[in-house]
Formats: sequence, C-alpha cells, structure tokens
Amino acid sequence: MSNIQEIKKRRTFAIISHPDAGKTTLTEKLLLFGGAIQTAGAVKSNKIKKTATSDFMEIEKQRGISVATSVMTFEYKDLLINILDTPGHKDFAEDTYRTLTAVDSVILVIDCVKGVEEQTERLMEVCRMRNTPVIIFINKLDREGQNPFDLLDELETKLNIRVRPLTWPINMGSDFKGVYSLYEQKLYFFKINKTKIESDVAEVSLDDENLESLVGERDAYQLREDVELVEGVYDPFSEDAYQKGELAPVFFGSAINNFGVKELLDTFCQISPTPQPRPTDARKVEPTEPKFSGFIFKIHANLDPRHRDRIAFLRICSGKFERNKFYHHVRLDKDVRFASPFSFMASAKSVMDEGFPGDVVGLYDTGNFKIGDTLTEGEDLMFSGIPSFSPEIFKELINLDPMKSKQLEKGIQQLTDEGVAQLFTLDLGNRKIVGTVGELQFDVIQYRLEHEYGAKCRWVPINTARACWITSDDKRKLDEFIRLKGNQIGYDKDRNPVFLAESEWMIRMNRDNNPDIQFHFTSEFKTESVV
Ligand code: G4P
Repeated sequence: MSNIQEIKKRRTFAIISHPDAGKTTLTEKLLLFGGAIQTAGAVKSNKIKKTATSDFMEIEKQRGISVATSVMTFEYKDLLINILDTPGHKDFAEDTYRTLTAVDSVILVIDCVKGVEEQTERLMEVCRMRNTPVIIFINKLDREGQNPFDLLDELETKLNIRVRPLTWPINMGSDFKGVYSLYEQKLYFFKINKTKIESDVAEVSLDDENLESLVGERDAYQLREDVELVEGVYDPFSEDAYQKGELAPVFFGSAINNFGVKELLDTFCQISPTPQPRPTDARKVEPTEPKFSGFIFKIHANLDPRHRDRIAFLRICSGKFERNKFYHHVRLDKDVRFASPFSFMASAKSVMDEGFPGDVVGLYDTGNFKIGDTLTEGEDLMFSGIPSFSPEIFKELINLDPMKSKQLEKGIQQLTDEGVAQLFTLDLGNRKIVGTVGELQFDVIQYRLEHEYGAKCRWVPINTARACWITSDDKRKLDEFIRLKGNQIGYDKDRNPVFLAESEWMIRMNRDNNPDIQFHFTSEFKTESVV
C-alpha cells in the first residue's frame, strides 16, 4: 500500500470529558464495535478513584496500568483508528493537554444531567486554540437530564463553538424512547441493554403517519415540533466547518447501554479528518512528505525500581517510520535508532516494523527524550504547538541532603523533562521553583526523587499564583524588567525568562506599567494569544 493510502486509512483522536461523564465507558464501547475487545469490562479504567486522591502510590499504580491503554488501535470499516487515552484526574490535566497536540480530532463526552462542567471548558479551550475538530456525544440519556435545547445553548456559550445536532432525543430518563437521526431519517429505539451492539431501527420520515404508532401521538407531535425548531435555529451541518473546528456535530445516546454509539462511530468514520499537517519552527510539515518526521508528546516513567526504563510516545507526522533505521534527534543533534519500537494494536504491545502518519509509536527511552522532542531524517526543525501552560501551584524545592545535590539536580531535571511538573530556576542562589497543576505531583516528585535518585527534599510554599513567559522586541527593556523584578524572575527549561507573579492582578498591573513587555500564559509565544 502506498504512503498516501496508509494516511487516508488513519484516524487519530482522543475522547475527552469531565471525570465521570462516561469517557471510559464510551471508549470501551467503541472498541467493542471495532472488534478490538470481545467483552465489556476488558478496558481497565485509568480513572483515578476518588478515594485514592491522597494515596499517590495507588494513583501511580493506576497510571502504570494505563500505559497499556494509553493508545488503543483498532480496525473498523477499512480504517485504522487510534484512540489516545487522556487521564481523567484534574491533577494530570497537563498530560491531557499534551495528548491533544498529537490527535487530529476529538470526541467530547457530556453528561446530560450535569451539562458543561469545569474541566470540559478547559479542555475545549485547548482544542479551540488548535482548531481541532470536535464531535460532541451527550451521554446518559437514560437519566433525567436537562432540556436538550438548553444543553445545546450551554455548549455554545460555555465552549465558544457552534453546534449542530445530528440526532434528536425523544424524551429522557425513564421515558427515553430513542433518538431520531436527522440526516438518515431513521428512528433508533432505546432499550436498557448492556450487551447487544445494534439498536432496533425504523426507517421513517417525520411526515410518515406511522410515526404515531411507533412512538405515540404525544411524542410524535413533540418530535416534529422539536425538529422544526432545530432546522430553523441551527445552520445545516457543514463538514467543512467541522473540519475547521468551527462547528461541532452533536449526538445523543447512552454509552453504557450501547445506544447511539454506532451512529457516532459511523459518522466519525465518514467525517473525521485524516492525519493533518503540523506546524514546526521552520515550516509546515505535510503528512504526505516522503521523509519521516515525528515528535514526542508523552513520556511515561516506570515506577518499578527494577525497570527504570521510560516509554516515550512518538506521533508520526510524515513519511514512514522504520524499525532499526537511524533518525536525527534534532535537539541533541545526534542519530538514534530503535530496535524494538512498539505499537498498541488491540491494547497489547507488539513490535512495530513500520508506521505511518497518525500512528503512535512507543519507544523505550533511557533519558534521551523530553516532551516536544523531534525526530527527522536529518532536517533541523522542531514541531511546535506543544506549549507549557502556566502551572497553578508553586513551591520551592529544598534539598535536605547537601551531599546529594547532584542527584537532586539530575532527578528534578529528568522528572520535569517527563512533564510531571515545570521547573523554574532563579538566578539568585540557584533556587528551584516547581510549578504543577495539582497538589498530587508534589508528593509524586518527592517520592520519586527519594526512591529513584536517592535525594531527599521538602517543599516550601511560595507566594506565586501564576507564571507568565515574558518577551520584548526591546532587549534593553526586557533586561531592565528582569533586573528590577529580581527573585520574581525564574528561567524555564529552555532558559526563557518567566515572571512569577503573586496574582492575576499583579500581572495586569505590570503589563499596564510596562507596555514594551509582552506577557504570555503559555510557553509558545508565536501561536498563542498575548495576554
Ligand atoms: P469517565 O471515564 O468519564 O470518568 O466515566 P466512566 O466511563 O467511568 O463512567 C462514569 C459512571 O457513569 C460509571 O458509573 C458508568 O457506569 C456510568 N455511565 C456511563 N455511561 C452511562 C450511561 O449512558 N447511563 C448511565 N446511567 N450511566 C452511565 P460508576 O457507578 O461510577 O461506575 P461503575 O461501577 O458503573 O463502573
């Protein structure tokens, strides 16, 4: 098969949701439909149980399990589908943001009872930044949820995207009868059903008088009214607008009951984008280019001290990846090759001899990789669009054993390369400020520094609430600002200066007082909006 045919076959996406909306359930059902698993319950949830929030070892164990389900590949209708899993726990949100840089589209799951929740909004902000196409699945229609029109309004206002329902529910909760497919003109009947894959269907247009006998007079009337309103309020579905990330088609269903999932998957196969071009610091890379290129979007460490290896996840962006071939590691300027790269077919690891754009390759790593690293066939370019976001919690790392400062230095460097947290170093006294999105990471870092690197540390809270990367066209002004702010300036892993501010208000004040300095909330200044 030619490279172009291989590319056309591939769909790489992530399922995102606020915890408990049904991401794991939907993933499992998609794998069932795709024949990748035979029974429900085969996918280990990587959901971190609420009871375990203070027990980070338990969480790490669960994260360990999730390596196997980090990427799930299956074939469906001649397509090769890669689902990239994202951690549900909010303390690992940064992991999710990075995974979103490696997909070409997403399916967003919403709980019809709870509507748009906090984490959904943040995840969607990341998708909107990159114009990632989104399909929305409103789940749990077997429960008494919010009015569907209200839900759609909430999606539009809170997620800042236009929506277009492609199916429409007939009631909800105990009275839920099914959905009407607006584009197929078919009625799908709902039944509580945890095993059967297909639902009962009736082909019936809305003006068909059989509708009354199928759903009852009252519901037939309501359905006609609702659909008329839908067609009046929402523009017709445009595949082009969806692909540009401007319009999200919406499906209603109940994942646990296998309901609405097949229509979702079938539509996904029809409209979702093939592997897309990706930006770099030099030029745009097209998937159809003959030469191989790819980037690392996730690094997973093995907590078992007998197996120190890490797994780096590479997204192939162009050309063909081959086992045992030398590739150029751009940041280190050296050639590397991989004897046992692996793929994630049917959630089991197997050696991958070749891979194509859209594929994710697992690479055993002994410390050569950082998040965002690029591999090519020689060209010097770095994939962009893998920004660091401002952390939310900051603490100073204090070394408890001066004899082990080298180990501590190496340990914190490697852990931050993995993306566990961000490190900002102050010039004054080489103080180390660590920023994370959740309290949990501090426990994880402390534990891992001690057990993997033999270095003991403690944390001291500091008065920082936000980190802003700072730039200026006027180098003199930037230097002056850095000098004035003293120990409020840290340097990130690439030696970019970062303003560590006590509050949003401080940032606003400093921005107003220093019009020549730009303040950025992500490390990627070229593509992100300036504050
Ligand atoms: P997550 O990965 O997004 O965190 O959610 P997950 O799939 O684990 O689902 C969260 C809970 O919602 C689970 O119940 C799951 O069974 C339930 N659920 C998923 N889809 C539906 C649906 O269509 N209808 C209803 N009523 N419930 C649904 P749980 O009690 O937390 O876990 P479990 O004991 O069932 O595994």
